[in-house]
Amino acid sequence: MEKDIDRILFTDRELIERVKELAAQIAACYPDEDTGLILVPILSGSIIFLADLIRHLPMKMKLGLITVSSYAGPTTESTGPSIVMDLKVDICDQHVLIVDDILDTGKTLRFVGDRLAARNPRSIRTAVLLRKPDKAPPDVTADFVGFEIADEFVVGYGLDYDDHYRNLPHIAVLKADCY
Ligand code: XMP
Repeated sequence: MEKDIDRILFTDRELIERVKELAAQIAACYPDEDTGLILVPILSGSIIFLADLIRHLPMKMKLGLITVSSYAGPTTESTGPSIVMDLKVDICDQHVLIVDDILDTGKTLRFVGDRLAARNPRSIRTAVLLRKPDKAPPDVTADFVGFEIADEFVVGYGLDYDDHYRNLPHIAVLKADCY
């Protein structure tokens, strides 16, 4: 697997340090008395980010899972988001924090954000590990962003190409001949 990597953008150490900083920012936004926080990770790409993030969040919370697919098979061209498994928990009058791996074109966050807003939560915020600047429309934003990256397809730390490379401990760019 490592032989397929062109270069590492963020090491596992850099990732965990930044995730801890994000957790501190997020915790500051949700005082202790706000016990109604529900984290909604967008699966599958956010799983490792989520696992690290929640272990550094001190407040009481619940998880509500949603699975969205944007890529059909071995491609880096998004087909647009579609629901694979919908959210099962009731978020009405609850604080919701959507957690995603990357804000790229913004289609996924808009799609999920609109669906969740229709369920009347008390608030919706968004945390993403990575963001590609200037690709999403200006109204699709994230409240908490780990790193800004260039417009390159990245894998690792939960992000995949054709469902592979999620288990790389770092965020990396693949060699061109691996696509
Ligand atoms: P959009 O374009 O909707 O993208 O903002 C969101 C979802 O698409 C996936 N995605 C990527 N996955 N490397 C990946 O492994 C990338 O560079 C990349 N860009 C987008 C990802 O699942 C994200 O939730």
